[in-house]
Order: sequence, then C-alpha cells, then structure tokens
Amino acid sequence: MRGLLIAGNWKMNGLIGESVQLIKEIQPANNEKIEIVLAPPFTALHAVNAYLSKDDSGQINNFFLAAQDVFWEEKGAYTGEVSPEMLANTGCYYVIIGHSERRQFFHETNKTVNKKIKASLKANLQCIVCIGETLEQRENGNTFSIIESQIKEGFANISSEELDKCIIAYEPVWAIGTGKTATPEQAEEIHQFIRKKIEEIFNKFSSEKMKILYGGSVNPGNVEGLLSKEDIDGALVGGASLKAESFNKIIQAGENTINN
Ligand code: 13P
Repeated sequence: MRGLLIAGNWKMNGLIGESVQLIKEIQPANNEKIEIVLAPPFTALHAVNAYLSKDDSGQINNFFLAAQDVFWEEKGAYTGEVSPEMLANTGCYYVIIGHSERRQFFHETNKTVNKKIKASLKANLQCIVCIGETLEQRENGNTFSIIESQIKEGFANISSEELDKCIIAYEPVWAIGTGKTATPEQAEEIHQFIRKKIEEIFNKFSSEKMKILYGGSVNPGNVEGLLSKEDIDGALVGGASLKAESFNKIIQAGENTINN
C-alpha cells in the first residue's frame, strides 16, 4: 500500500556534466509503485531538472528531484543559504532535512530540523527527514530515546496533514559510509519503533501511511533483505548511488520486492 521509494543522495559529488551523465544512465523503475528520488548537489539541480523536464509532465518515469538541505528563512541577508521557494523553483519536489552529516559537521539540531521542515512544507516541498543514533549512543543503550527525541522535537507543532508530506529516513550514523549495514532485523526493529511513535504522537492512519526509508551502506548485495521487511519502505543510498550500475541494481531489487 505504501509503495517503495529509492533515493540517491549524491552528497558533495558530481560536477554538472557528471551529474547529467549519471541521471541519463539511471534506469527508471518498471512499476508505478516505485518512486526514484535523486539528490544532486545544489549546483547541478538546475541541469538535472532540465534533463528530467524534457517530458511535458515535468517528470520522467517516476524520477523526482530532491535537494540535500535547505534554510528556513524565505529570503534576506543569509549569505550562502538557499530558501525552500528557490528549491521548488529549481524543480525540487523533495528536500532532505537533518542528515547526520549536517548534524555532525554543521551543528544542526532537532530544533533547526523542525524549522526547516515547517519552512519547506510552506513551499510545498515534501520532506525526507533523517534520524538515527551514533555508535556511542547505541552502545550506551540510548538508541530508542535518541530516536524518540529526534521525532518529538523534529516534528514538534506539525499537524498530521503536514506530516503526510513527510518521510522519515532511519540512518544509523555508524552505518553511513562505513560499509557496516544494520541487519534487516536491526533496521526493522527501529522502523517499527518509529511507526509506533508516529502513531502515539499523531495517529494510526498517518503512521501506516508514512514511508520509512533505511539508509547506511545500502548496496546491491544487502538491499533486498532490507526491503523485504514490512516496515522498510525504501532506501536512502549514498555511495552506491554514485554509479549507475549499482544504483540500477538497487532499483531492480526494489522492483523484485514489489513484484514478489
Ligand atoms: P552510504 O550509503 O554511503 O553509507 O550513505 C548513506 C547516506 O548517508 C544516505 O543519505
């Protein structure tokens, strides 16, 4: 019922030409229940969108464009920042918010994540909100409390109608770029917990409807096991999304999951 979403977060990789080349090589999914989301760096958004918009529908073959970050103000003296409206204007349908690299290197907090979600929703962007614990937090037995506060504070004062435009990506920090993936069972345990919290804070309908993605060293070899789990509705892929060959295999695994 929820369908699948496979997203590629290209992070700070790809000049304009390389980004357009990469998107040209990505195979669309052969199933309308699979959305493919691509998040190139800001500098390549316009060119990638121009390629995607060749089709009159403004979107070819269930590909959607995402930005990797956004600022919460509408305009003004904020040197270097990009507003939600600017992203929408560049063709973005989604925006990734609160990635752990933003939290780690740029001091983002649940509070700033909350501001970014609210501002993005106002500009009609759909939000992919990243949460996840560090290795230290997991080893200290704090995973559930960290996840809970990331949800409570990140989604504070957001209505259930607004929540319906949000997706959560569970990305355990210890699994990002490390080659260490959470096992399907480990990921499913947290995904179930996230869904339960969404039900408690919002309602059952929203929690059942919400897509929850897994991210952290997803690759063609481990994706099928992860996607086979009931509460894992897709993947947010970093490194393996930078090569069409591996990303296409991940999309293919999504199709196999939907078809089985
Ligand atoms: P890797 O797939 O490279 O571990 O990155 C995951 C990620 O951070 C996606 O947002």
